[in-house]
Amino acid sequence: MPDTTNLTTVATLRERARRDIAQGAVTSNYGCDKEKVIELLNAALATELVCTLRYRRHYYTARGLASNSVAAEFLEHANEELEHVDQLAARISELGGNPNFSPIGLAERSHAEYIEADTLEDMIRENLVAERIAIESYREVVQFLGNGDSTTRRLLENILATEEEHAEDLVSLTKGLGAR
Ligand SMILES: [Fe+2]
Ligand SMILES: [Fe+2]
Repeated sequence: MPDTTNLTTVATLRERARRDIAQGAVTSNYGCDKEKVIELLNAALATELVCTLRYRRHYYTARGLASNSVAAEFLEHANEELEHVDQLAARISELGGNPNFSPIGLAERSHAEYIEADTLEDMIRENLVAERIAIESYREVVQFLGNGDSTTRRLLENILATEEEHAEDLVSLTKGLGAR
């Protein structure tokens, strides 16, 4: 039999859940600084918003350069960054915070930059730089969260895996362009 002496009794769990009902998904054993987590998630949200805008801009301009395969990749990434936006906003709300969608100051809140770029090569490079920034900051936040908020950590680990795939896709596109 596993040792259950350190587990909170059912009665206490129920009592706390009733008392703290306004806290929603955040319970007393939430192991992080919640305000700090919301702040970090809002920075990630701004980053994803800027990334979805940049990829979408590049989708239309790359199409103009008659490169449909590169454009298609940009569109796919744009849509996946938008999914990340939704996932982050949902988690911020679950934690009782306000997802910040304001366009005012968005570029400054974002870790990644909005750079338009004129050529396919420059677009791919700018997107790769942005992905690497996102990867590094997600890794840091994952470490910060540790076991204190495993739900947010899992979410960010999943997003991180997608950003790594995006970076790989961009590297492949660079090789494809070199082979033209
Ligand atoms: Fe993303
Ligand atoms: Fe990405």
